[in-house]
This record gives sequence, structure tokens and C-alpha cells, in this order.
Amino acid sequence: MKPLLRVRDLVVEFHLDRGTLRAVNRVSLDVYPGEIMAIVGESGSGKSTLAFALLNLVPPPGRIVEGQVSFNGTDVLALRGDALRQYRWREVAMVFQAAQNVLNPVMRVVDHFLDTARDHGLTNEGEVLAWAEELLRMVRLEPARVFSAYPHELSGGMRQRVVIALSLLLKPRMVILDEPTTALDVVTQAYIMDILNEIRREMNLTMLLLTHDMSVVAKIADRVGVMYAGQVMEIADVDSIFYRPRHPYTVGLIHAAPSLLGDLDRKQPIPGSPPDLINPPPGCPFRPRCGYASARCEEDPGLHVIADGHWVACHHWEQVTHHAPVS
Ligand SMILES: Nc1ncnc2c1ncn2[C@@H]1O[C@H](COP(=O)(O)OP(=O)(O)OP(=O)(O)O)[C@@H](O)[C@H]1O
Ligand code: SF4
Ligand SMILES: [Mg+2]
Repeated sequence: MKPLLRVRDLVVEFHLDRGTLRAVNRVSLDVYPGEIMAIVGESGSGKSTLAFALLNLVPPPGRIVEGQVSFNGTDVLALRGDALRQYRWREVAMVFQAAQNVLNPVMRVVDHFLDTARDHGLTNEGEVLAWAEELLRMVRLEPARVFSAYPHELSGGMRQRVVIALSLLLKPRMVILDEPTTALDVVTQAYIMDILNEIRREMNLTMLLLTHDMSVVAKIADRVGVMYAGQVMEIADVDSIFYRPRHPYTVGLIHAAPSLLGDLDRKQPIPGSPPDLINPPPGCPFRPRCGYASARCEEDPGLHVIADGHWVACHHWEQVTHHAPVS
């Protein structure tokens, strides 16, 4: 199958007074039609910056320095004007991190839908409202009640569902969801995950989900990319990631997620902290925190394929052991 989104050697840098911070460092990945691909990594690993880059929306002082992003064969980074606007909502929509707060507090929910439609040239109000109602039902909200509400009258989980419905207004082929459940309680998180799964099936959507939470990944993803210090450390299908991880960082993330282990006492945070991305250590960026590190790790291992669909950036992946989480 051909990927819908194809990213190659993408580099994004922020030019700061202190120096150049490389937030996305030679990222390559594919997202296939109809799948949910999760990108997981600790805070600061570059997930949001990657998402912005995929929409060619990196805010200054950030800049895409090199690499390619193609969507359905179109060179995204070459798009300008109307073509770029079309790509951003109609092809790929994004639900930004802390999206619940992007709703305008003085605008009723219905006006968010109408405004967004108008901005994109949809002028048939009746049709827009009918579709908006259908979308709200899909995210299990009652249109009659929610349309006339102001954002502050809704709970956090409801606001997040409104934002998800809004992102689908122009029937995009793909949605990028940046931490869609982070600010919510565990029950609401699970509820939203179910809704996303349902929508994916009903609308035949492709989703790219960015999260720091391994339990979210386990619940919803088909395939997983693990990011660390702006780089992809491992890519594989979700079962391989949880049962046969081959990167020490992936193993660390699994063991740091207590709910996955079924036993809080076994929770083991990854020692140390991520490197300063302005002055990262040479070679493998995980080296200062890695129990498998050797002198060889001063050289960049690069992402390489170790089995069908399984990619790892580690010199010692064959030695990496892992006790499967309790399911
Ligand atoms: N506008 C900006 N100016 C300067 N540095 C930035 C900016 N945005 C991001 N960065 C830096 O880029 C790196 C990656 O940040 P990013 O927000 O992409 O990570 P993240 O994985 O999304 O983290 P989180 O889980 O906290 O959302 C970090 O070192 C961050 O400090
Ligand atoms: S390359 Fe070396 S330092 Fe990096 S994760 Fe593998 S073993 Fe650890
Ligand atoms: Mg982020």
C-alpha cells in the first residue's frame, strides 16, 4: 500500500539567542491510509514541532531547514496560498495541543462551525448545520444542547469533543491530534479514545496521534513511532512495540507507564533527563541515560530496518530485553 503521508529527513530548527535548537532531527516516517499512527515521546521530544512542520506551520523563530513532506503525492512544502489553505483543513486537519482552549469564549459553539465553514467558502448554512449536527452526534454530543452553548458552559471533555467535531467539518482525509486527551481524567480519556476509533471507521479517516502516554498508544494505535530528542528511535506495529521493543528508550517508556504494567510498584521512571537540544551529545542522543551504551554509541546508529515494518535506531538492539506488559 502507498503511504498517504510520507516524511523524509525532516529537520526543524529554532534559531534562538542561545544557539540553534534542532527540535526535529532527520525524521522519516510513513502514514498509511485508514490507520492510526501514534507518535510517542517525553515532553520536549519534538512531537508538536513535527506536527506543525507537517502542515508547514512552524512558528518563528522556527524553520524547516531540510527534508520532504508529501501528502498523497503532493509536495506539501512547495504549496502556497489557496493550495496550502486547502491542504490545511480539507486534506489534513489538526487538533492542536490544549485545543479546548482554542474555542473563542465569547462565541457559541454553532458559530464556531459556521465561521469555519465560511472561512473556507462553504456558504450553504443549512447544509453546514446539518453536517455539524451529524458530527456532534458522532462525538456523542447533543446538538440541540451544545450548539447554543458557550465554551465555558461545557466540561473539558465536551469542549475537546467539540474541537474534534470541528476539525472534521471539511471532511479531511487525515487528522493530526496533538495530545487530545492529556488534560482530561482517565475515564474521559478512554471515552474519547473510543469515539476516535469509531470516527476513524465511519469516516475512513487516517489519524496521526501525538502523545506522551503509552497507555493511550496501547489503546488506539495501529503503528507507533517513538521519538526522542527530535529523532525517531523506533517504528513498528503496536504489538511489536509493546511485546518486542528493540530500543532501550521504548522499553524505558513502557516501564515508566504504571497502568500498562498492572502493578504500580513496578513503575520505573527512566533515569536522567533528555539532552539540551542546543548542545546534544554526539552519536546516539539516548546514550547518557542508556544501560546498554558502549563506545560505539558515540556514533549515530541511524534508523535501520530489523524486521518487516520494524525500524530501530540502536547499535545494540539485539541485546535489548523486555518483559511484556500485563494485558
Ligand atoms: N516556539 C519555540 N521556540 C523555541 N523553542 C521551541 C519552540 N517550540 C518548541 N521548542 C523547543 O523544541 C523542542 C521540542 O518541543 P515540542 O513542543 O515540539 O515537544 P513535544 O514533544 O511536543 O513536547 P510536549 O510533550 O511537552 O508537548 C523543545 O526543546 C522545545 O523547547
Ligand atoms: S545506540 Fe547505544 S546508547 Fe543508543 S539506545 Fe542503543 S545502546 Fe543505548
Ligand atoms: Mg507537544
